[in-house]
Amino acid sequence: MIDQTARCPKWLIERIVDCGGSISFHKYMDLVLNDPENGFYSTGRLNIGRDGDFCTSPSLGNDFARLLAIQIVDWFLDLEKSGTKSELLSLVEIGPGEGTLSRDLIVAIAEISPALISRIELVLIELNLGMKKRQEKVVNNLEGINLRWSNIEDLILRPVTGVVIANEVLDALPVERLVFTENNVFRQGVSLRKVNDEYFLEFVDLSPTSEIMKFLQNSNSLLNIEFPPKGICDRWITEWHCDLPNFFGRLSRILINGSLLVVDYAMESRRYYSAIRKDGTLISYRNQKANSDILKDPGLSDLTAHLCIESTINYAMTNGWKFMGETRQGQALLALGLSKFLFSLQNISSQDLSAALNRRESLLRLVDPTGLGEFRWLAFQKENSDDLALSNRFLEEPIN
Ligand SMILES: C[S@@+](CC[C@H](N)C(=O)[O-])C[C@H]1O[C@@H](n2cnc3c(N)ncnc32)[C@H](O)[C@@H]1O
Repeated sequence: MIDQTARCPKWLIERIVDCGGSISFHKYMDLVLNDPENGFYSTGRLNIGRDGDFCTSPSLGNDFARLLAIQIVDWFLDLEKSGTKSELLSLVEIGPGEGTLSRDLIVAIAEISPALISRIELVLIELNLGMKKRQEKVVNNLEGINLRWSNIEDLILRPVTGVVIANEVLDALPVERLVFTENNVFRQGVSLRKVNDEYFLEFVDLSPTSEIMKFLQNSNSLLNIEFPPKGICDRWITEWHCDLPNFFGRLSRILINGSLLVVDYAMESRRYYSAIRKDGTLISYRNQKANSDILKDPGLSDLTAHLCIESTINYAMTNGWKFMGETRQGQALLALGLSKFLFSLQNISSQDLSAALNRRESLLRLVDPTGLGEFRWLAFQKENSDDLALSNRFLEEPIN
């Protein structure tokens, strides 16, 4: 039966026809987000914030950046202490969205450590032109800061020393969807169906690639589970973040020395690949509404898949990174002093009450265990930097 919400726009019909009539789900996700002329990100249609398509931590105000900056300053000071030869210390943000996190981090770092700021350059890595244009409006008026956009390839040629931040970016990397039947596994594809002169999108089963088969064979060492998991239903669907090994490998080559912090929706493999999660984790977002109809509104809505913690760590560790530790965002922000921020709101005068209540609500949302507080912070250090000891304040016991 055709899903009436899965109407296919003309540009996507052309792309699918050009590819022979069907494409992998991985290709579909890449097109609807990153197609240079029509993708949700590349056109800059994506709007992050309370009035936009969805909220991220930095879009709730500058407290997220102010707390994260404490950890980043620690890492920069550790790098200084290690006697790095680099004149500049780079703060690299990958997938900066609206640019608010980069801007607020620079402002916060300048407040915490004014001596450091003249040594810092901000480097933004953004795949999509539409988002870059939005970022320009936000960060271009940062004064007295070395600022540039770059890309991974150029940075590999001229690597930097510093800290890389990836907040809610890895969940936007295209994934393969795998469909399990009683005796078979398929690579999910997307195809066209014409009904009364109108084209609709529909899922189809494609043969699995050799890479998919290898992932499934290695699942025991990679995820500590066997495929297929016990007790799954017919046509149980899951995802594989097949781009992560290459992503981590290339990213490690942009750093001479330093750290990487990944912040994202993530869960352990036993939950990720549990029999009861029968449709995987993919979800689409538009106008603050989450939707499980992931073929709806292609190019007009976001698509995102959770990360599996074990495979993310494993792919990073086998591609140039040492794992330093991970925790939930709620714990991390409390360890960095979020409760002090909440406490300080008690002294606000009654004229500022409305702003104080808004800020309180945002702070609570950042640590809400049913929302952003459940996000994971995964920290890595560039491999082969054994002489560098990085302190991870965000992993310590929370401050009361
Ligand atoms: C969900 S938004 C996150 C925005 C921001 N980090 C935040 O927390 O508000 C994803 C961002 O990553 C960008 N992006 C997606 N894939 C990317 C890639 N491979 N390299 C760099 N940027 C990418 C998108 O264009 C968009 O700016």
